[in-house]
Amino acid sequence: MPIPHEPISHDALLEIAVAAGQEAGALLVQYAEAGFHIEYKNPINLVTDADRAAEQCVIERIRAHFPTHRFLAEEQGRLEKTQSPYLWIIDPLDGTTNFAHGYPTYCVSIGLEYEGHCVLGLVFDPTRNDLFTAIEHRGARLNGRPIHVSNTMVLDSSLLVTGFAYDIRETPRNNLDHFSNFALKAQGLRRTGSAALDLCYVAAGRFDGFWEVRLNPWDMAAGSVIVREAGGRLTDFSGKDLSIYGQELVASNGQIHDAMLAVLNQETP
Ligand code: IPD
Ligand code: CA
Ligand code: CA
Repeated sequence: MPIPHEPISHDALLEIAVAAGQEAGALLVQYAEAGFHIEYKNPINLVTDADRAAEQCVIERIRAHFPTHRFLAEEQGRLEKTQSPYLWIIDPLDGTTNFAHGYPTYCVSIGLEYEGHCVLGLVFDPTRNDLFTAIEHRGARLNGRPIHVSNTMVLDSSLLVTGFAYDIRETPRNNLDHFSNFALKAQGLRRTGSAALDLCYVAAGRFDGFWEVRLNPWDMAAGSVIVREAGGRLTDFSGKDLSIYGQELVASNGQIHDAMLAVLNQETP
């Protein structure tokens, strides 16, 4: 298929992505109300027919407008029939365990890379009707209103959030050491079960910082643009700029970032 050389406006791209994300979000709510089928990837890693239906919905809607674009989607993997510079990175249901238990904290996450660089993202929480969006150099928004990271200066006054990967039972790199270290240093710690929303909540100043050890690109693509555009800082545990393909993530308001890195790198007795 021929690939148009003209870059498409970020507004046009975001508009289509928002429509797709909202439609997929509505689909998730329908499944939550009507019932869904659960399969197990491992004893604690679930996938439902709602995940698959929402993913198909997002891909079809975006593809209808941009048929040459490439996709990286959690359930279907890489869909790349062209050399397009555009790559959509999709988590159709971030917070599957919450969803499966009827705990209303989950979202659709859609990020877009252009030539390997994340340029826009949106995260839609259909249970609260919260739509987080960001376009590179144009700021981050929640339901259309600009958002900014918090001004908290020290860990002692910070509300932090983290998560645990599905291989927690199989690996010593299970984040429990960092969890106990932060528990003694922060004002409070939370585990919400949705990494994409955790990032958005850092962007909105609801959390001061977030770390996790084994994330996937679809957990981070959209949320990382939203944090960056809200004035936050994103790195790996060594302080290098975040790569969404690198698993480790530290996201913060910037002020407490070095203190978070120090905790993540402290010697465990
Ligand atoms: C998970 C959630 C969770 C995080 C896990 C992710 P899923 O994604 O974001 O908060 O701790 O590492 O895998 O499976 O609900 O899409
Ligand atoms: Ca996820
Ligand atoms: Ca998911």
